[in-house]
Amino acid sequence: MAEHQISVTVNGVEKAGEVVSRTLLVHWIRDELGMTGTHIGCDTTHCGACTVLVDGVPTKSCTVLAVQADGHEVQTVEGLETADGLHPVQEGFWEKHGLQCGYCTPGMMMTAVALLKENPNPSEADIRLAISGNLCRCTGYVNIVESIRHAAAQLNGGA
Ligand code: FES
Ligand code: FES
Repeated sequence: MAEHQISVTVNGVEKAGEVVSRTLLVHWIRDELGMTGTHIGCDTTHCGACTVLVDGVPTKSCTVLAVQADGHEVQTVEGLETADGLHPVQEGFWEKHGLQCGYCTPGMMMTAVALLKENPNPSEADIRLAISGNLCRCTGYVNIVESIRHAAAQLNGGA
C-alpha cells in the first residue's frame, strides 16, 4: 500500500505525517493527531458525528481520505475554544441544553459554525436544513435548534 506525505493545517497549526492511501481523514485526526473530539458514529456518511470543516465547509471526515486533505485547512471541535473562552456555539449548547450523551455534539457544532458564518440570522427552517445531515439519537432536535439560535443571537451582539 502506497504511503503519502501530507501536510494539513489543523486548527491553525500545520500537521505533517505519512499516511497509507486508504487512511480516512477521521482516522488520521483521531489516531495520529490524538484529537478524539471528532467522533465516528457510522463510517457510512449517514450520521454526521465526524463532521469537521475543510476550508470552512462542513465535511464528513469518514468520507474523505487523509490524502485529500493535503494542503487544506481543517477545523475540528478542539479548535472552537479560544483564549477568550468558549465559542458562542459551544455556549449555546451549554445554555440551551443542546446535548444529552454528547456523541453527535461535535459534528452538530461544526455544522452550526459553518451555517452561522454563511447566514448569521438563520430561521428555524434554515437551521433544521443545515443540520439535516447530522443525526441525534438522544434529544430530538428542539434544544439543538434553540442552542444554535442562541449562538446566532450572541454573535449578533445580543440576547
Ligand atoms: S461517522 Fe461519518 S457520517 Fe457517521
Ligand atoms: S446528544 Fe446523544 S446522539 Fe445527540
